Amino acid sequence: MVHYSELGLVNTNELFKKAIEGKYAIPAFNFNNMEQMQAIIAACVETESPVILQVSSGARKYANQTLLRYMAQGAVEYAKELGKNIPVVLHLDHGDSFELCKSCIDSGFSSVMIDGSHFSYEENIALTKQVVEYAHAHGVSVEGELGVLAGVEDDVVAEHHTYTRPEEVVDFVTRTGVDSLAISIGTSHGANKFTPAQCTRDENGILIPPPLRFDILEEIEKQIPGFPIVLHGASSVPQEYVATINKYGGALKDSIGIPEEQLRRAASSAVCKINIDSDGRLAMTAAVREVMATKPGEFDPRKYLGPARDELKKLYSHKTVNVLGSAGKA
Ligand code: G3H
Ligand code: 13P
Ligand code: ZN
Repeated sequence: MVHYSELGLVNTNELFKKAIEGKYAIPAFNFNNMEQMQAIIAACVETESPVILQVSSGARKYANQTLLRYMAQGAVEYAKELGKNIPVVLHLDHGDSFELCKSCIDSGFSSVMIDGSHFSYEENIALTKQVVEYAHAHGVSVEGELGVLAGVEDDVVAEHHTYTRPEEVVDFVTRTGVDSLAISIGTSHGANKFTPAQCTRDENGILIPPPLRFDILEEIEKQIPGFPIVLHGASSVPQEYVATINKYGGALKDSIGIPEEQLRRAASSAVCKINIDSDGRLAMTAAVREVMATKPGEFDPRKYLGPARDELKKLYSHKTVNVLGSAGKA
């Protein structure tokens, strides 16, 4: 058993308090490998942003939980080496059982999400409460979820949103004791968040997705003033990456994300953690495809993963500076 404080990691409590007061959001970037982790840390050190390194169940299966934990410990040291001791959180994304959350807490994670949103309301409360009791005994922060996002998370596929019901949030946070609450207001996981049929077109023919349900967010904020809110499924799906991928042999269709100005608006509210995974996948894929297509003689992985890492770093810096407002807050 190892405690996160021994690894130089922090939990989310202090970070969220400051983010709500300062009207910005902390980036929660998913990582599965060394290049993603290096890019996240390099970008957050350079822009002086606190950061949440996020590990999904899929990432655990792909890369091994122990290795990922050592990489997070390495990330803290790497940040110092790059010149800034930024706050680093190691967070379990979409934990689906008490056992998984416990295993992460016991191996050095400083924050966990228990996602009981696919269960009944009472089952969600019971499971979340059980995780909170264990986590809090170890100083680990817990994110719960109310409402269901459309899209795919690991093995769970939800066709439609169930928006968070503001009338449930006081009861849920009081009875579970969670430290933050993920809500559903129209975002979804993956690169296909909306169909073209759900969108309108501007004067240049660009597809404009339906706005997030800020009315629901405001109602939730009225119910639990100052309580940390989390937004999942918050990738913007940059069209230049989609175009590069498709130019070099990809076949992405109807890839539509959340417009950045809506995320900026969310970040200035009680939304203090914004989850981004798909945009990193797109950046990496675009860069790798470009090298593969334009330099067919290359077979050194550093020659395509290196440019992918550079592109990721640019993307993450853009997020902290221009979208989340977390730059300069480390
Ligand atoms: O919420 C989902 C995240 O994007 C993680 O995706 O489960 O494929 O690693 P993954
Ligand atoms: P995106 O698929 O929009 O990047 O969302 C990621 C996420 O919510 C991880 O939990
Ligand atoms: Zn998510």
